[in-house]
Amino acid sequence: MQSEAGEGLHVAIIMDGNGRWAARRGWPRVAGHRAGVAAVRRVVERAPELGIARMTLYAFSSDNWRRPALEVRSIFSLIAAYLRIERERLKEVGARLEAIGRRDRLPRLLLREIEQCESATAGGRRLHLRVAVDYSSREAIARAAAELVGEGGMHSHEALERGLAAVLHAAGGDVDLLIRTGGEKRLSDFLLWESAYAELVFTDRMWPDFDETDLEAAVVEFRRRDRRFGGVPAANAETAAMAAELSGAALRTP
Ligand code: FPP
Repeated sequence: MQSEAGEGLHVAIIMDGNGRWAARRGWPRVAGHRAGVAAVRRVVERAPELGIARMTLYAFSSDNWRRPALEVRSIFSLIAAYLRIERERLKEVGARLEAIGRRDRLPRLLLREIEQCESATAGGRRLHLRVAVDYSSREAIARAAAELVGEGGMHSHEALERGLAAVLHAAGGDVDLLIRTGGEKRLSDFLLWESAYAELVFTDRMWPDFDETDLEAAVVEFRRRDRRFGGVPAANAETAAMAAELSGAALRTP
């Protein structure tokens, strides 16, 4: 299911480079994450003006549990503080906050901030802001599949694919543009199904330095791309149809 024209873009961001940004300044990694929160504020403010209707930010992957406990705690505290401090501003911006990922392993304080922010911003219509916390795309796909199997919905491989697409689409929909900062070029278990046809933009900019201009540049780059979803370029579509018609006619010729 591709996003429909006029619906607004779904932009997903892998916010990478906080640790290196801090290390280059001789600061602890958590200082990079703190500066990363400021970058989150900047992109959230700018997104609706760029035609972005949905934005999914990768704040903490299920693999990030492997980090030192102090860093994990700091990231959770920063997310909780962001949700508490920004709650009113998110309402003003017209953003609806939703956390995606597992909730059963999150600290109670963070869970409470998530729930309060979700209910306070439930009426937001300009931007659907999804924050991925304790998130793994493989886990999300497996969970959706298990749900379908449990419902007895898995009759064939096609039915499973349709069912999965429906479950995952309802959860957030396809990604149009996926941005990764920090110079690495990988997906790191983020929205794998939803990014099947996403345009990928990788930038060397470290996340704490990422700003409105960088977001705009990525959207401009996205608009320049020719999205074909496995088809042919729009300009060639007519030629392709004519060719198909001609080859059909040739086959019909006695
Ligand atoms: C990746 O950089 C970043 C993270 C794992 C944490 C991201 C968290 C924030 C930006 C703060 C809070 C988020 C929200 C939504 C308020 P890294 O630490 O892997 O950087 P490195 O590759 O340079 O080590």
